[in-house]
Amino acid sequence: MNNSPIGVFDSGLGGLSTVRAIRKLLPNEDIIYFGDTGRVPYGTRSNETIESYTAQDIKFLQSFDCKMIAVACGTVSTVSRELISKLPVLSTGILVPSAKAAAAATKNGKIGIMGTSATVNSGAFETEIKKYNPSATVVPVACPLLVSLVESNWLDVNDDVTNPAVRRYMKPILDNGCDTVILGCTHFPLLSPIIRNVAGEGVTLIDSGLEEAKYIEERLNAENMRNSSEHIGSAKFFVSDRPQNFSSVASVLLGENIDGSCSFVDIFKYI
Ligand code: DGL
Repeated sequence: MNNSPIGVFDSGLGGLSTVRAIRKLLPNEDIIYFGDTGRVPYGTRSNETIESYTAQDIKFLQSFDCKMIAVACGTVSTVSRELISKLPVLSTGILVPSAKAAAAATKNGKIGIMGTSATVNSGAFETEIKKYNPSATVVPVACPLLVSLVESNWLDVNDDVTNPAVRRYMKPILDNGCDTVILGCTHFPLLSPIIRNVAGEGVTLIDSGLEEAKYIEERLNAENMRNSSEHIGSAKFFVSDRPQNFSSVASVLLGENIDGSCSFVDIFKYI
């Protein structure tokens, strides 16, 4: 048993898709969340910049003595996968859980990947999927604009800007007949209703946040590191820009008011 918190981070709001799933699957776990809202997006930046941001984000979370670091950012999970695998604490990203789930779900072996430019350029999803399904055809599409649309809270299922953007990005995936699509950026599960409408019912959507949360549950159980108390787990949020901007959207996405538990952190101090 281990009652330390789980540390979760992303460039902004996207990691809330992981937090949302952890709150459901592991309600008595405490969570420390860092959203690097002052530097979002990560997915259009160089690998060097992403790695240096990752190191700072992890250093901040380690100051809370977290029992596990969950990288709730597809960009960091793919670009900085070496760095994550060498951490001295239990850690995970979205890459392996999502790739495994997609390889298991596909019937026709055609898997679409929606991610950031950095994620698509890394080729990490193709490599990982082929470990579980060597003959799979993978159709990766970089969807950078969708990150800004989520950060702007343009999530309504009828939104007249987000809908055509999703349709345009998904076209090559659907034209190639993919029966499974990985939402390989944690911002994208927050667009699930729109993506579902565009993809149709016959396509399996892999929610990277949910798959990561399932993996966290599995690992904590295997390591006997679950929180032993019966309490409802707390969630504290830290951001690198104005907390109000984050907490108003996050409260809606999580279905709980987080105004009082969201604070600013000067991430530049963590080098
Ligand atoms: N949520 C992110 C990801 O999963 C980041 C998007 C971005 O910062 O560009 O890739």
